Amino acid sequence: MKIAVLAGDGIGPEIVAQAVRVLEALRSDGLRFELEPGLLGGCAVDAAGEPFPEATRRLVTDADAALLGAVGGPRYDMLPRQLRPEQGLLGIRKMLGLFANLRPAVLYPELANASTLKSEVVAGLDILIVRELTGDIYFGEPRGIEQRNGQRIGFNTMIYSEAEIRRIARVAFQAARKRNHRLCSVDKMNVLECTQLWRDVVTETNQEYPDVELSHMLVDNAAMQLVRNPRQFDVMVTGNMFGDILSDEASMLTGSIGMLPSASLDDRNKGLYEPIHGSAPDIAGKDLANPLATILSVAMMLRYTFDQEAAAARIEGAVKKVLAQGYRTGDIYEPGMKKIGTTGMGDAVLANI
Ligand code: NAI
Ligand code: MG
Repeated sequence: MKIAVLAGDGIGPEIVAQAVRVLEALRSDGLRFELEPGLLGGCAVDAAGEPFPEATRRLVTDADAALLGAVGGPRYDMLPRQLRPEQGLLGIRKMLGLFANLRPAVLYPELANASTLKSEVVAGLDILIVRELTGDIYFGEPRGIEQRNGQRIGFNTMIYSEAEIRRIARVAFQAARKRNHRLCSVDKMNVLECTQLWRDVVTETNQEYPDVELSHMLVDNAAMQLVRNPRQFDVMVTGNMFGDILSDEASMLTGSIGMLPSASLDDRNKGLYEPIHGSAPDIAGKDLANPLATILSVAMMLRYTFDQEAAAARIEGAVKKVLAQGYRTGDIYEPGMKKIGTTGMGDAVLANI
């Protein structure tokens, strides 16, 4: 296994260092991998004058997976658009064709008070949103703002081919197989033809996965159900725009930005793995950042790119134990718990592995 390690900016290097320690600890299980560091984002602008340098392109092309911390920060806000750190992130997603974005929203019972929702509604929440990432109204043509009949009109095109829908549906069905064999597909078929096709193709794809129970829900109802009774969901699959909105909504049900990992995959399960949070410049370099989202991103990498379910479960089990033992970084701290820093959290996870 060849893994590109892109620490990035802000808290990126600190949290990635802890995730790498966890990976290294798994070598004793016979897990074999090479870690290759690379520059992405602001640190790449500083060192090489561009956010996604040629050396990093080669590195991620050769690697089976990439682990990313986060990119960006106030130091880079003045740069012209093509030099901004986020261009590194968009560049890597585009170059690798990462069309499947997997975002779990897990609320550990120990953190039930972190949510803004009542703990009896969200405690034990464990859902996975599979969002299509390279199509839909965000990329459809024609698009623009034009003058027509003396006024400006704005327009975008919602478009999906059957092949694009089928490949994201397969990722979702496979993910459902690794969990509880339940999948809910979200669309707006009552109004939008594009999503009528979505529903038809997802339903057809179900024939390849007869062991997975498929349901459908309209997106407005799904948004409502996510706050009314989120635990009814297991795996959800949806298009780029609906997924953008629903995945942010779902992640905030857990209230803990420092806990949530993500994966973006191509059609051969090559992937980019990263926490959902940013570079947190306000706490960078202070040993305050929660490394668990990045450590849990490593677990996703082992599961989805390398098919190492046992190793993934081992990391997730260790994280659960650390929380049960009362260890907390500042972002998830409550009185009575044991407050620790970034490195301390890495130590605690390692002790449980
Ligand atoms: P952010 O996620 O970096 O921070 C939001 C708040 O959450 C801050 O108070 C921060 O201290 C806290 N936080 C974030 N991660 C944490 C962790 N692991 N442990 C404890 N607390 C944590 O979002 P913000 O402030 O909007 O953006 C900061 C920079 O990050 C910007 O330059 C932005 O462009 C970039 N960014 C990068 C992303 C990426 O690389 N994927 C995603 C989002 C933002
Ligand atoms: Mg979003």
